[in-house]
Amino acid sequence: MLATCAADGGQGDVHPIANAALAWRDGRIAWVGPDAALPAEYVMDEPTSRGSSRTLVIPGLIDCHTHLAFGGWRANEFVERIQGKSYQEIAAAGGGIASTVAQTHATSSEDLIDKCSAFLREMLSLGITTVECKSGYGLTVREELRLLRVYRDLAAAGPQRIVPTLLGAHTVPPEMRDRREAYVALVADEMIPAAARDGLAACCDVFVERGAFTVDEARRILGAARDAGLAAKLHADQLSDGDGAALAAQVHAISADHLEHASDAGIAAMAAAGVVAVSLPLATLYLRQPPMPARRFIAAGVPVAVATDFNPGSAPSAHLPLALTLACTMQRMTPAEALKGATIYAARAVGLEAEIGSLEPGKRADFAVIDAPSVDHWLYNFRPNACDWAFIDGVEVYPPA
Ligand code: NIG
Ligand code: FE
Repeated sequence: MLATCAADGGQGDVHPIANAALAWRDGRIAWVGPDAALPAEYVMDEPTSRGSSRTLVIPGLIDCHTHLAFGGWRANEFVERIQGKSYQEIAAAGGGIASTVAQTHATSSEDLIDKCSAFLREMLSLGITTVECKSGYGLTVREELRLLRVYRDLAAAGPQRIVPTLLGAHTVPPEMRDRREAYVALVADEMIPAAARDGLAACCDVFVERGAFTVDEARRILGAARDAGLAAKLHADQLSDGDGAALAAQVHAISADHLEHASDAGIAAMAAAGVVAVSLPLATLYLRQPPMPARRFIAAGVPVAVATDFNPGSAPSAHLPLALTLACTMQRMTPAEALKGATIYAARAVGLEAEIGSLEPGKRADFAVIDAPSVDHWLYNFRPNACDWAFIDGVEVYPPA
């Protein structure tokens, strides 16, 4: 079975093809369809067929929301939350994002690259071929640009595609708590132009929440991002309804992420503006929140992507297939809907829909071969790793040679 995950149709239309063939040339897909209809020019002397009737071929998975580069970990907070403290109480007491910022400042770029490379290898083994990576643990111009350079170096090393996002507006750094306007100005007037000038970021994200940034501050920052040519993203309505979904629609963001507490008006505004909703069920699970109302988004016509939110606080796991199974059980998305959320809609959420996210002629030959007879079976029968092979640009990248 092969699922093309082409955009047409609804959230659950993955366009399955039984007994499929996939042909590629120079890294791009040349033909896909039933094996019996494969044009003669693509029939090979030596068939390279993989797998059997138990094999599922899907587009390379896209994790469209991670905070990949961080110093240290925060297992202590995991335990504190189990014992009853809230994410926001821990942050107010100096833990949370500020704790990771301090640990990141103390970590060299070489060590960050080594740590991220190990994460990326693990993710590749799961069939994840593209990873969106946010800065946000620097919170000074120098440190935010340093994190974006870590991503530039990881992208150059390959093999995965990296989409770098500036998240200078993750939280106001502790030393500027009394001067938040000055920090907003720093992000808008210095950080964003510098990141854009050096080609270090494709997107710009803002955490809109009590304790982070207000809607007005986010509007200013994302206006500067637009002027600099960066696509807008938002962490919206995660811990409370803060009108983040409506803001995402107003600023024509490519995605609004989290959205556990989004209002019906916000959802309708996102539908009208064509904003992708990114659900992050691992963060929901770790923070023991009510699930993101995926069915309401889908009913309103909003495409729902699914990602890990991998970070050392609210989502300390980079396991996207686990996030997909959780999207099924917690958010009542069908396996097919979840798969479309980690492929074509995830590609749309990072602005790469024309290149990746589906198995269609002309697109990059990024795909994964999964040991399961169907999409339903894959996400139902959760295993630590069901991925047998991964290809990027038509080249086998997993298992390693
Ligand atoms: O997406 N919500 C804000 N940022 C992250 C958490 C980051 C952290 O706790 O270090 C998130 O959940
Ligand atoms: Fe996040």
